Amino acid sequence: MNSSQTFKNPIVEQRADPWVYKHTDGYYYFTASVPTYDRLEIRRSTTIQGLGDAEAVTVWRKHDHGPMSQLIWAPEIHYIHGKWYIYFAAADVDHPVNDTFNHRMYVIETDAINPLEGEWVEKGQVITEWESFALDATTFQHNDKLYYVWAQRDYDIPGNSNLYLSEMENPWTLKGPQIMLTKPELEWEVIGFLVNEGPAVLKKNGKIFITYSASATDINYCMGLLSADENSDLLDINSWHKADQPVFRSAPENGQYGPGHNSFTRSEDDQHDVLIYHARNYTEIVGDPLHDPNRHTRAQLIEWNEDGTPNFGKPVPDEGFVHS
Ligand code: AHR
Repeated sequence: MNSSQTFKNPIVEQRADPWVYKHTDGYYYFTASVPTYDRLEIRRSTTIQGLGDAEAVTVWRKHDHGPMSQLIWAPEIHYIHGKWYIYFAAADVDHPVNDTFNHRMYVIETDAINPLEGEWVEKGQVITEWESFALDATTFQHNDKLYYVWAQRDYDIPGNSNLYLSEMENPWTLKGPQIMLTKPELEWEVIGFLVNEGPAVLKKNGKIFITYSASATDINYCMGLLSADENSDLLDINSWHKADQPVFRSAPENGQYGPGHNSFTRSEDDQHDVLIYHARNYTEIVGDPLHDPNRHTRAQLIEWNEDGTPNFGKPVPDEGFVHS
């Protein structure tokens, strides 16, 4: 790949589940989980590299009590039908069980031209067919339809979460069937926790690709890949193929561990697809990995295989990394 686009990683320190959206105004809009999981912040920059030093503006804070009062996770900012939306998951500090995993999914909206200056309105919970731990939503538009992909627990399936797909009536309401795209079942999906989460969508070469993350959020965290023909019935599970091996995983030789919860954007010259993801640069995590703040936002160019599938390679080293 001959591109002038190179990145000094990490791009943004201590920002997990990174989401980058390149808007028509020439800005990259960035949001991510913050270590305190207590707010939604946005940054913008005309370059991906510039996001690291860009001002972070808080546009929403967790409630003191109730269903949006703790563990604010994995926000994404989308521009849909002329308005901005932030999708995120939140838990309830007053929940009778108050376990870590009582999240539901929510949306806020602004019609401001610059979302960093907007008045944001809470649009409520995104209701799914059943009530259970739900998180990591993303949306995409295809053939004039709006779709929603998310992770949710099914109490009849072992594990924390599976991935689901539904069409949307509007940017905060689902409609029609909700199909399960994948559940944690392969050996690399069930290490530590049985997890399929963090979906991200990339359309290319006549295909729709959905990457997702699997296993516990430690060094075993890695990415899987689903694919479907862009003209297939996306709500027919038989349209989807699941790769049997992870497509992106820890690279000790580059000092990068637990890469995942990715998003996609385009390079500044609009010539390349860019993989945005988080990873840690050490293996020894003290305590709960969810409360280790050092999942840093990273970026690298995506190559493409002859068969039209993405080649994510492996996590590149940090700037100045020297292999011990
Ligand atoms: O970073 C918080 C949560 O950790 C994210 O929502 C999920 O993808 C990961 O397990």
